[in-house]
Amino acid sequence: MNKLDILNNDTIAFAKKIYGNDFIPLHRPVFEGNERQYLVDCIDSNFVSSVGEKVVELEEKVVKFTGSKYAVATVNGTAALHVAIELAGVKPGDEVISQALTFIATCNAISYAGAKPLFIDVDVDTMGLSPTALKRFLTKNAEKRTSGTFNKTSGKKISACVPMHTFGFPCRIVEIAEICADWDIALIEDAAESLGSFVGSHHTGTFALMATLSFNGNKVITTGGGGMIITDDFELAKRAKHITTTSKVLHPYEFVHDEIGYNYRMPNLNAALGCAQMERLDEFLAIKKQLAVQWDAFFDKRDVNFFKAINENKANHWLNAIILDSKEDRDEFLKVTNDNNVMSRPIWTLMSKLPMFKDCQTDGLENSLWLEDRVVNIPSSVPDGAIKKLDI
Ligand SMILES: Cc1ncc(COP(=O)(O)O)c(C=O)c1O
Repeated sequence: MNKLDILNNDTIAFAKKIYGNDFIPLHRPVFEGNERQYLVDCIDSNFVSSVGEKVVELEEKVVKFTGSKYAVATVNGTAALHVAIELAGVKPGDEVISQALTFIATCNAISYAGAKPLFIDVDVDTMGLSPTALKRFLTKNAEKRTSGTFNKTSGKKISACVPMHTFGFPCRIVEIAEICADWDIALIEDAAESLGSFVGSHHTGTFALMATLSFNGNKVITTGGGGMIITDDFELAKRAKHITTTSKVLHPYEFVHDEIGYNYRMPNLNAALGCAQMERLDEFLAIKKQLAVQWDAFFDKRDVNFFKAINENKANHWLNAIILDSKEDRDEFLKVTNDNNVMSRPIWTLMSKLPMFKDCQTDGLENSLWLEDRVVNIPSSVPDGAIKKLDI
């Protein structure tokens, strides 16, 4: 057996030691707390839909956990991102900087606002937008006018920048925020994957004008489907609540809506699930950290690059990732592990290669292309029971 065969077989055996012999998904939710009770309470109260106290409770829990001043719950993370991008002032025809190495939702939300993504490279050690590449691109290709920053090639306004904390590993958000401030570009963090990830003592999503979270079923905690906008700006939070709740003017019985709004409210039923999940978040994060320590030791022994947060940053270990030596190794690893009921997944195909975005301007995306060929996610769920110290 060659080195790769040994790695593939060992990975399958190790995953089965952690999770047992059944099919091992990449990430599954855990409902062992108050989920059932809160759902029943919700049904008994008759408030299962767009009004109810669990939505407010969930928003308060997220405010407390992240340290952000305000939170607005939405029907999913994509809707949160769509509204945040519009509220940041992005207009149809504008350009919005993002990374090509992201999940489709980031670029879909930019498109819903009528804008076009502009793809800048990521850093190899964070998989998130590179401040060096961002600065280089803007210095060469953009000019500042009184009405904002414009792309010299397309003539379009670059009105926002949406970096993403890939798999929960914080990107260099402090540096990115400085560059965006210098260039008058609104910053929105796509923190869909990074609930529980910190840069120093600050939660990801608290460095920008607004940030968005996702509570999809595959995330660190789930509301079934759900998302949230977090911000320190009272007026933005108020606007976000208004337009995500159909722009209805508050009145005991009249139906008046004062602008085009969206029905992006999180139902109370989903928020009830989220409240119970938030009660377990610290515990999930602690277990996921222990799991990552075990995977790290396992891959370290086999000379494989196990992805880690840089500097003093703290990742939530949502999805563990490894970097293999080549696309061929990656393909073989994916095939063998999946054939043996251990789910693994390649990183996303770059957005710049998809038909909808293939005409968008890029800066060459050297690191994104390199990572696209090599990064693989491995099982990362919170296992049943405590994590034993495993023989690696
Ligand atoms: C990077 C990123 N952005 C946005 C989203 C959108 O979230 P949702 O699936 O809740 O719409 C997700 C997750 O699904 C994501 O991974």
